[in-house]
Amino acid sequence: MGSRAIKIVQTNDGSNTLFSEEYSQCYHSVKDGAINESLYKHIFPALKHHKDKQNLRILDICFGLGYNTFLTILENFESTNPKKIEFFSPELDLALLKSLKNFTYPKEFDSIRHIIHSISDNLYYEDELHKIEIFCGDAREYVKKLDNIDIVYQDAFSSDVNSELWNLSYFKDIYFILNEQGIITTYSISTNVRLSMSENGLFIYEIESSNTRKSTLAFKRKQTEYKYIDMELKKLRNPDAKPLL
Ligand SMILES: C[S@@+](CC[C@H](N)C(=O)[O-])C[C@H]1O[C@@H](n2cnc3c(N)ncnc32)[C@H](O)[C@@H]1O
Repeated sequence: MGSRAIKIVQTNDGSNTLFSEEYSQCYHSVKDGAINESLYKHIFPALKHHKDKQNLRILDICFGLGYNTFLTILENFESTNPKKIEFFSPELDLALLKSLKNFTYPKEFDSIRHIIHSISDNLYYEDELHKIEIFCGDAREYVKKLDNIDIVYQDAFSSDVNSELWNLSYFKDIYFILNEQGIITTYSISTNVRLSMSENGLFIYEIESSNTRKSTLAFKRKQTEYKYIDMELKKLRNPDAKPLL
């Protein structure tokens, strides 16, 4: 069953999100703001990492209100050298997807109303630059069918309520479908989540912006420009810390 999101909540940057009764959690950080969280924790670091790549394949876990996909498209439209981007996004909650055309998105989204309508009605959208495929079902099944992914926006509910999308076996599948230059972006800074990633061979880094709190980036290859989090040292200092099973 998908989450029954019933309450609209305004976040601190003025953009709206939802509160899910089923998960007792908001879809975005109210403190950081839905737009800010999506841009600073996911989209800016991911697009910067792939600034020289013209074709991208993005896995958006999970679609929810679609801020990560929609804001990536808006960023791409503003670019002087727009990329071709394919989006793959699982989402359990069909009623939510169907309701998106009635959701009060930020004004900035007015120019992509046609995209929002297409997703809401058909779970699909395509133009010369963008292709969006929504899979209505369990993300764990869907990710196994993908390959050669450049970017994973890891944006499930938190690991205490949505642990199946943060555990060791889930990140084993993510590691497998991520290409060698791939990047995972996530708001989670939990040691257990980071261990679920690092125990699968991913290198863990931390970023922070003036607009948002700390967040995590993970890569298959070592990076030089971000703050490296040494997970072996973390384990030595905290032997009780474990990946999520
Ligand atoms: C935090 S919200 C996603 C926020 C989203 N990125 C946005 O911009 O609105 C988490 C979403 O994951 C969905 N979800 C939770 N578990 C799932 C699963 N196993 N497979 C697919 N979707 C799932 C929920 O229905 C919810 O819409």
